[in-house]
Amino acid sequence: MSEFTLNICCMGAGYVGGPTMAVIALKCPQIRVCVVDLSQKQIDAWNSDSLPIYEPGLPEVVSECRGRNLFFSTDIDGEIKRADIIFISVNTPTKTMGIGAGRAANIKNCELCARKIAEVSDSGKIVVEKSTVPVRTAQAVRRVLECNDKGLKFQVLSNPEFLAEGTAMEDLKAPDRVLIGGVQDEDGIKAAETLVSVYANWVPREQILTTNLWSSELSKLVANAFLAQRVSSINSISALCEATGADVNEISRAVGIDQRIGRRFLNSSIGFGGSCFQKDILNLVYLCETYGLHECAEYWNQVIVMNDYQKKRFTEKMVSSMFNTVTGKKIAILGYAFKKDTGDVRETPSMFVVRDLVLEQAKIHVFDPQVKREDMWIEMDYTCGMTEKTHPGLDKAVTTSPDAYSACDGAHAFAVLTEWDEFKTLDFERIYKGMAKPAFVFDGRNILDHAKLREIGFEVHAIGKPD
Ligand code: NAD
Ligand code: UGA
Repeated sequence: MSEFTLNICCMGAGYVGGPTMAVIALKCPQIRVCVVDLSQKQIDAWNSDSLPIYEPGLPEVVSECRGRNLFFSTDIDGEIKRADIIFISVNTPTKTMGIGAGRAANIKNCELCARKIAEVSDSGKIVVEKSTVPVRTAQAVRRVLECNDKGLKFQVLSNPEFLAEGTAMEDLKAPDRVLIGGVQDEDGIKAAETLVSVYANWVPREQILTTNLWSSELSKLVANAFLAQRVSSINSISALCEATGADVNEISRAVGIDQRIGRRFLNSSIGFGGSCFQKDILNLVYLCETYGLHECAEYWNQVIVMNDYQKKRFTEKMVSSMFNTVTGKKIAILGYAFKKDTGDVRETPSMFVVRDLVLEQAKIHVFDPQVKREDMWIEMDYTCGMTEKTHPGLDKAVTTSPDAYSACDGAHAFAVLTEWDEFKTLDFERIYKGMAKPAFVFDGRNILDHAKLREIGFEVHAIGKPD
């Protein structure tokens, strides 16, 4: 007899699957949790001391639970057979070709998981969509599962994830809510109750919301769209601030103090990045279009248009401030990750700034405490279609520096593009001495003390601030 009361399998050992399952294992020692993936490299990393993702607090939880009730494996068939509950937590990127290319989410990986579950299962299971998907994907998953030739019964639930990278462990341990969508019949409600009882090990019941399947799937897209919309809204105001002499930080404070608006997510920046905001809004836009709701599609598409504008505007300001030419000039880029406390570079706004500066023939020196050079190039190729092959000299044009000081040494400018805390306490006197003059600072996150930098002698330009 197994010592465990329930077996959970999670398909997909990425930014969501790994941390989410680690916290379930931590909070539910009576449950066996196994995370599986097609990638041997990924699973080997999860089983090593050097985890495949950087997330504060994650190594401690993994080392406490791994080998006890948390496992990482490529034995997908074996773990599916053994499981009572299977989470599908695979990537659902924007389609790059075919119908809906550039907007629709590609749910190929979800379907493949459903097909695998139907093929190898020898008992009925609860299948949980953890991935972010278009509304009604659960119907496709259910139809694929029903096609098993053993007459097995499956229940499909939607349980979208709301964690943010960099704070994933805190978000998972104390979520604002857990959302579970299911079919509103006896079996569906029973399946949802089983999943509720897993989360109820640490999440107060009143914060576990149950809804119908489609509301749950759509709520996830709407939550991300609303968050991204706030960033685009404040970024649009940052442009107006620069034109009028108002200060965007003062505006965020004055506006956000109204409790109906709220303070959070009003930090003006060089634009939002990350693997999900753009993908999920495009997904929402595509859904609206599919249902003939063109005005709704256009409304949400503006969030992306504003974000693209903000990224482009920042680079243009850099170039125009530096006498309309950066050709041959060394420019230090501090921060490449899409936000602090992660090494993730998917859709990072820094990449677009670097790309545009490289096209202006600047010599870029990047320092980021967590980003790997290899990942920068993979993402540059995937998202911008730029490689050494398509742009000879690209590899040489971008140097990765071991620290901020060497990145800035001899530079005409440095730009802060990720809000890493360590950038706030750099020795700016030392940096100033080593730089070409005039020494320019472009603060893309408004985290530096601009008055102090000006006192040292820097020419400072910041988002949404008077120059
Ligand atoms: P990821 O790319 O980090 O991880 C996905 C993993 O799934 C990869 O390791 C891949 O090898 C594996 N995989 C793909 N197909 C598979 C298959 N058929 N069988 C087994 N493994 C397979 O992606 P992620 O960032 O973890 O995102 C996963 C989903 O969660 C996406 O839908 C995303 O929108 C959503 N989400 C992400 C975040 C986030 O912060 N990254 C937060 C909330 C929701
Ligand atoms: C976001 C959501 O916050 C999560 O709830 C959601 O689960 C996740 O997407 C997802 O579905 O993947 P994440 O992208 O990890 O999480 O990080 P955020 O903190 O939301 O930041 C996203 C981007 O917006 C970053 O580039 C960040 O720098 C930028 N941002 C955020 C701003 O520019 N200003 C702000 O005030 C807040």
